[in-house]
Amino acid sequence: MYKYNDFDAGFVAERNKQFRAQVQRRISGALSEDEFKPLRLMNGLYLQLHAYMLRVAVPYGTLNSGQMHQLANIAQRWDKGYGHFTTRQNIQFNWPKLPDVPDILDALAELEMHAIQTSGNTVRNVTADHLSGAAADELEDPRPYAELIRQWSTDHPEFQFLPRKFKIAVSGSAQDRAVTRAHDIGLRLVEKNGETGFEVIVGGGLGRTPMIGKILRAFLPKADLLPYIEATISVWNLLGRRDNKYKSRIKITVHEHGIDEISKLVEARFKELRPSFNGADQSLFDHIKPAFAAPAYKQHSTELFEQNYSNDPVFRAWVDTNVMAHQNVDYGIATISLKAHGQTPGDASAEQMHLIADLAERYGHDEIRISHEQNIVLPHVHKSDLPAVHASLKTAQLATANIGLISDIIACPGMDYCALATARSIPIAQQIATRFDELKLEHDIGELKLKISGCINACGHHHVGHIGILGLDRAGVENYQITLGGDATETAAIGQRTGPGFSADDLLPALERLITAYLDLRSEPKETFLQTYRRVGATPFKAALYPERAVRANAA
Ligand code: HEM
Ligand code: SF4
Repeated sequence: MYKYNDFDAGFVAERNKQFRAQVQRRISGALSEDEFKPLRLMNGLYLQLHAYMLRVAVPYGTLNSGQMHQLANIAQRWDKGYGHFTTRQNIQFNWPKLPDVPDILDALAELEMHAIQTSGNTVRNVTADHLSGAAADELEDPRPYAELIRQWSTDHPEFQFLPRKFKIAVSGSAQDRAVTRAHDIGLRLVEKNGETGFEVIVGGGLGRTPMIGKILRAFLPKADLLPYIEATISVWNLLGRRDNKYKSRIKITVHEHGIDEISKLVEARFKELRPSFNGADQSLFDHIKPAFAAPAYKQHSTELFEQNYSNDPVFRAWVDTNVMAHQNVDYGIATISLKAHGQTPGDASAEQMHLIADLAERYGHDEIRISHEQNIVLPHVHKSDLPAVHASLKTAQLATANIGLISDIIACPGMDYCALATARSIPIAQQIATRFDELKLEHDIGELKLKISGCINACGHHHVGHIGILGLDRAGVENYQITLGGDATETAAIGQRTGPGFSADDLLPALERLITAYLDLRSEPKETFLQTYRRVGATPFKAALYPERAVRANAA
């Protein structure tokens, strides 16, 4: 894992000192809330529906146990005893008190964490595949590149006042678990003629105008990474619309100018910029890379694992659903579900965070990941330790075997916290998870990505959910629109709207009809919801959602 050098530590300490003075000036009244706003946003501090909200970056989702303990300590000491993990591999604290925030930032800095550039029109927290460095299908660990981008973009003098926020995701596997096609820039490590480089995707994004990114460069040599991204962002920095907030993201710039024109401009700018990078970026990379070396894997029998797998059906169900294949065949990647049926997706209590940190320390080579699907991952667990890990998780309501299933829902905070919300998301997610748990259908339904946002900003990724739910306000009443066929992976797609929205009361029955239709329509139990949808199209699903329309059509 990357360790801060003296420069990094000094930089964060200096920022915290400045912010402490700014907070003091706000408290004394020397600064108005309006004057304070840009200063607090530079440090990840939002003002939400009920309180301030602090967003802390977890770069490329990687934490060690000490850092997780510290997040738990912060939740315990300065918040209401829990934290919320988000789709951007951040953690949000919903209830900090303003005078405490400088102390929280200092506590974060003690363990090499910060909230810099988690807000504002800058390059935001760089995200990556949460199985990086462990996944069996990985070409190369993308995190050293993500760290390089983080260092280069932090406090980048030209990129502090971009037209809008800018999100970069990096993936090192053929299977895209980082949603690279829905980011401003998506980077996928690919191989060509025996050399690894990047496929560069630009102009993806969700929000009000969802778009799937386009390929800007099919193959970029690794050594060109920073100058090429710098060229891309600087082209957008000049062209991007500053007259209209809703048209400011790079996806609109690409759409308005066309990918060919953007590509020409980027390549030209890249030629200009390339020489000024004169190798400093590469020596920085050489310094970063060893920090991501694989841990010293244990040599140990896996017999205990096999015994438990054969004899304990609860353990077996958890392994089959929550444990993914590791590069080392004696190891597994254990995903800890933060989606116990009826819980708030992505929330972890301080006790749960402490427990996860302990497990990482004892059984996980001290490594933890946060996934964009709002779960926590222990990337390196020896198979012989999985029974003990599972047993511990059970004691803390963390052993739900539902990864990738219908109750593994992504949900934004919605009306419960967010000042921009038009509807609730959390209670909707809770109801859906509880209902499908009661029906005992989850495992039969199989892989299904259900994602919910409380407004058009799409923080809950609903556009790329196999089933997406968007909460809207219709004349003071919550209304939920359903989209189908979205996909966040390498075959990314934006979901299609099915028809009029549903009231909060009608939503659950509508979803049940939809799922029943899928179970009837699938060609075999292995055919997933998305595969069925792609095979049969929207019509039979719409008929299930709106039976009264089908009746009317038949009568006509
Ligand atoms: C509660 C405080 C939050 C506020 C004020 C907020 C605000 C916004 C806004 C305004 C957008 C639209 C930006 C645009 O299209 O230009 C957005 C997008 C987004 N937010 Fe949030 N958000 C919040 C919380 C979250 C949380 C909790 C998550 C994760 C669960 C999240 C993840 C995202 C993502 C993934 C997008 C889509 C970006 C894109 O691809 O265009 N946000 N947010
Ligand atoms: S989608 Fe809307 S309601 Fe949900 S967190 Fe984002 S801005 Fe808030």
